[in-house]
Amino acid sequence: MDNTDMKQIQWFPGHMAKTRRLIASNLSLVDAVVEIVDARSPLSSRNPEMDHMTKNKPRLVLLNKSDLADERTTQQWINYFRRNDSEALAVDCKSGKGLKSILPTLKNTVLKELMDKRERNGMKGAAVRLMIVGIPNVGKSSLINKLAGSKRAKVEDKPGVTRTKQWVKLDNNTELLDMPGVLWPKFEDQSVAVRLAFTGAISDDILDIETLAMKLLSYLAENYPNSLTERYKIELSEEDTGLDLLEKVGKKRGMMISGGEINTERAAITVLDEFRSGKLGRITLEAPPQKEQ
Ligand code: G4P
Repeated sequence: MDNTDMKQIQWFPGHMAKTRRLIASNLSLVDAVVEIVDARSPLSSRNPEMDHMTKNKPRLVLLNKSDLADERTTQQWINYFRRNDSEALAVDCKSGKGLKSILPTLKNTVLKELMDKRERNGMKGAAVRLMIVGIPNVGKSSLINKLAGSKRAKVEDKPGVTRTKQWVKLDNNTELLDMPGVLWPKFEDQSVAVRLAFTGAISDDILDIETLAMKLLSYLAENYPNSLTERYKIELSEEDTGLDLLEKVGKKRGMMISGGEINTERAAITVLDEFRSGKLGRITLEAPPQKEQ
């Protein structure tokens, strides 16, 4: 894809500066950061600036939506993060899988030094404060709801009522800031933008939907051919282009327009929807850098 394929995305500098300031001020209040990424695209779904902003804080990376990702690659990603100085866990905030390990991992590993120091200083009971960070749509609200559940204070949902900072007690000595730090995704590299569009983290408008689906089908034909042959009952050939694959899917599903042409737009919507909802199986869109696995 070249630059002309991409529609311009506008960010507002004032809004960005305010967001960064808010995150920085909240960070000063917490002992550790829980960063959520999408297990299907763990690097593409991070904002590298977040790395910089949180560099002085102990951090736990959660590979969320692990129910949709390839298990083997998720394990490689966990190893990658651990090698790069961040403890990491695979979780699924939809079913709650993996969430029980979060607090023990924070206390026994990520915050071990702080916990030991507090114990030595007779401050064992002091609350540990946490904050969740991540780009939109990675599952921050789902995680807060799962962790805090009914303990979450009711916030008035009225225009003009300013939300004050709320700390939710997760256990007798852990408190979570119920306002996550949200940074926009970053996609100077266009393959990153495409991965974010595949998962629905950014709007489909970034590319036309058929181009997006053709790129996804080509990736699947190369990396997960069985997911295509099983779901769509199509035969794959080495020479298939993205368009060939899209037409095969449309034809198999009977998506025709008058004149016997295949409705590739409908086929594209179907492929993207089925990928996003996991109907094509557990698929990861990027592997850790080779030497890091
Ligand atoms: P955010 O606060 O970071 O913006 O994300 P949020 O929790 O709103 O989650 C975004 C979408 O991702 C939601 O789907 C949510 O249900 C889904 N989600 C979160 N965690 C997981 C997970 O571990 N696995 C799967 N499969 N999905 C997850 P939605 O379509 O926007 O809403 P709905 O399906 O909940 O109605």
